[in-house]
Amino acid sequence: MCGIIGVVGSTEALATLLDGLERLEYRGYDSAGVALVRPGSTWRARSAAGTTSVAALREQCLAAPEGYFSGIGHTRWATHGAPEAVNAHPHLDCSGKVAIIHNGIIENHAVLREQLLTRGHVFTSATDSEVVAHLIEEQRRGGADLLESVRRTLGDIRGAFALAVVDASEPDVIVAARRISPLVVGTAPGVTYLASDVPAMWGRAENFYVVDDDEIVRLVPAGCSAIDLDGTPVRLRALQVDWDLETAQLDGFDDFMSKEIAEQPHAVRNTLLDRRREDGSITFDEIRISDDELRRVRRVVLVACGTSLHAAHIAKYAIERWARLSVEVEIASEYHYRDPLVEVGTLVIGISQSGETIDTIQATREAKRRGATVLAVCNVVDASLARDADAVLYTRAGLEVSVASTKAYVAQIAALEILALRLAQLRGTLTPFDIDEHLGALLAVPDLIATALRTAPAVRAVATELLGARDYFFIGRHLGFPTALEGALKLKEITYLHAEGYAAGELKHGPLALIEPGVVVVAVVTDELLHDKMMSNLAEVKARGASVVAVAREDDRRIDAVADFVLRVPSAHPMLAPMVDIIPLQLLAYELARGLGRNVDRPRNLAKTVTVE
Ligand code: M6R
Repeated sequence: MCGIIGVVGSTEALATLLDGLERLEYRGYDSAGVALVRPGSTWRARSAAGTTSVAALREQCLAAPEGYFSGIGHTRWATHGAPEAVNAHPHLDCSGKVAIIHNGIIENHAVLREQLLTRGHVFTSATDSEVVAHLIEEQRRGGADLLESVRRTLGDIRGAFALAVVDASEPDVIVAARRISPLVVGTAPGVTYLASDVPAMWGRAENFYVVDDDEIVRLVPAGCSAIDLDGTPVRLRALQVDWDLETAQLDGFDDFMSKEIAEQPHAVRNTLLDRRREDGSITFDEIRISDDELRRVRRVVLVACGTSLHAAHIAKYAIERWARLSVEVEIASEYHYRDPLVEVGTLVIGISQSGETIDTIQATREAKRRGATVLAVCNVVDASLARDADAVLYTRAGLEVSVASTKAYVAQIAALEILALRLAQLRGTLTPFDIDEHLGALLAVPDLIATALRTAPAVRAVATELLGARDYFFIGRHLGFPTALEGALKLKEITYLHAEGYAAGELKHGPLALIEPGVVVVAVVTDELLHDKMMSNLAEVKARGASVVAVAREDDRRIDAVADFVLRVPSAHPMLAPMVDIIPLQLLAYELARGLGRNVDRPRNLAKTVTVE
């Protein structure tokens, strides 16, 4: 998964590419590169400097010659070929005139490479992408123009791609195409842009258009035209953009993660806004599934990855409890390779912050193919997942930049819980009084999150004490369990420390053997009904020498007897507590990562949007 950007017709082409790449770094930052074209010549620069690749590229570009008005740029998350400059994009053909950038994976690259080698092509990288440059070169040699060359080349390649191609023989043109990986076009008077997402073009492009699967676009300074794989002209869909550049800036925070943690009350409040009508009924204007269809749902399958998967676990408890529907939670990357059962009345909900996670997209497509109704719960408006689905419920968390998801997570839980209440309302499984009470509790959650955020100084003090620890177990029961999973994921993701999330009752079935002095057990102990059980589990780990950090309710005094450190959060409705209890765990991961000198926004080996399988 990588970020791509392109521009034609700009007097500040290079600055446009470099600024855009900086904003695309969340998609990968193993290496970065640009290629500029003018009549007869292509100039390329590439750098592989880990998290500082774009900054290093900027330095190199100080030596760029003048007189280039068009070019393409790429920031890479390595899949095929090590994260080295030689594998950084753009890749060139044998003539050095055609340059390509690619986000995705060319699945049949090995066969194509063999064939191209026998036809005399010389490869300079270990990537899957370079075959595209050579395939286009062959078409160009045969006399086809750039657009036709790309169209024919798409017939040869299999896999996922957002591709952009320039050629010094047609310097005022970029041809780009998309299958699965995202691609957006932007226009302004006399300049045309493309990128993996809209923020990369903010401040420059004025109007935005979505390139759909198997569409090929030809960008010239005056605008953009598109065709399908048969060469038939198609119209690009205009994209409504309601985020701006300011949203993507730090606003005085040290990093995006701390900014996004602080934005959580707002994210939940926004997600819940306007969902309750005066008559007490719950409404989703954008959802596009009729009430009758929702009433016919007999089974719910939730598919997602990573943090979104943890939100799915929480939703399962809420939908089962409130709507009395059977719910399964599926790891998206596993779902579509099984032979999943989709009976009449199955509602499949794909949950994704980005809406571009390929595993989740593949899973929902598979479900749809088998006859399921698919609902997307997504944070990015008009993302691929949302477009594919029969219906969409947007979380309104705003742009999330940090790789570690925080505000999108609580917004997902809020959206899914209000959906659970809507299903309950339609199915009559809760009384209007209960629904009103739960809704009231849900609308109070933003304030509870704001209170929980005040644990920050206490968390910082605990993190200072724990800085030498290397092994963490996060445990909880009932809804404390998915919270423990998410706490552990946050910690490992940004600190690079070993952390595991467990159902507290499961510890004695094996992992207890690992508990010894030096190990930290972080326990979510906010559920009143399960408090005694959690106390017993904590006594067991204490007896074996672990240090205990407890996330507990403000009024819980019994916890002091077993916990070395207590992080106190306000009491929330048990079903809604995950949105509050996760706050100190996000902060703990953040403080430990800062203490260890990690780059919290851009952890090693990861990318914000995972568009490869
Ligand atoms: O965009 P998505 O919600 O589909 O992303 C899914 C995961 O890749 C994502 O949640 C990942 O686990 C985060 N980096 C966790 O903080």
